[in-house]
Amino acid sequence: MSLKDKIDLKKLPNHIAIIMDGNGRWAERQGKNRIFGHKNGVKSVRETTEAAAELGINFLTLYAFSTENWNRPKFEIDALMRLLVQTIDKETKTLNKNNIRLQAIGDLKSLHKNSYKQLMKAIKDTEKNDRMTLVLALSYSSRWEIVKAVKTIIEQIKSNKISIDDIDQKVFSSFLTTSSIPDPELLIRTSGEYRISNFLLWQIAYSELYFTPKLWPDFRKEDLYEAILNFQNRERRFGMISEQIKKA
Ligand code: IPE
Ligand code: IPE
Ligand code: MG
Repeated sequence: MSLKDKIDLKKLPNHIAIIMDGNGRWAERQGKNRIFGHKNGVKSVRETTEAAAELGINFLTLYAFSTENWNRPKFEIDALMRLLVQTIDKETKTLNKNNIRLQAIGDLKSLHKNSYKQLMKAIKDTEKNDRMTLVLALSYSSRWEIVKAVKTIIEQIKSNKISIDDIDQKVFSSFLTTSSIPDPELLIRTSGEYRISNFLLWQIAYSELYFTPKLWPDFRKEDLYEAILNFQNRERRFGMISEQIKKA
């Protein structure tokens, strides 16, 4: 029985989020420069997206560029921005063929002009697709997003659009950039690092975390299947006790 066949299609996570890490190390291990790793990471993006859509996952969020990544050398940032434009340009057709909608979260206006333009075009060109939503986190960080939400809420209170009493967890969530996206049930990080790096802090309150030593450019469909199987073997208790979960 293949890994894929072992997956219980009735218990799929609705939303999987991935911190795609390890491109630089992957390249350096082969004596190549870091950009080579980023270029090879695109194949993993393609494979993972395809695998998720084939299984019937509804949302896949990929952390592609963090707020903190702006602190990298200019050469690397420029290469990543160029790669973004090229990849989106090349992949829009495939997204449409596979009925996948593209969305993005983050401080998108801070992206290089061309990347921003290309991204907006792809989002528009795929907006009617409804098999799966692929969310790219670009110039994204959770603390940036939370502070932004707090500022907007304060402005709306000041202008009497909402009152303090209206604010609860659900309303707060609706001010985040992920307002139209459900919380992920499964968060995967590659490259053997055990940290969150400012990704979806609010949204992963009850996500299952899965860490793999695989570097992102080596991540393939089978690796996604393995993560999903691992997820399906866990008991999610949400603060309750095992007996309560089994009864439900
Ligand atoms: C992840 O790979 C891609 C981005 C953060 C853009 P890295 O570039 O962080 O690769 P490592 O972690 O240095 O190996
Ligand atoms: C996290 O990876 C950001 C992305 C995958 C886009 P980093 O490689 O930037 O994370 P740190 O800095 O090692 O925590
Ligand atoms: Mg890294």
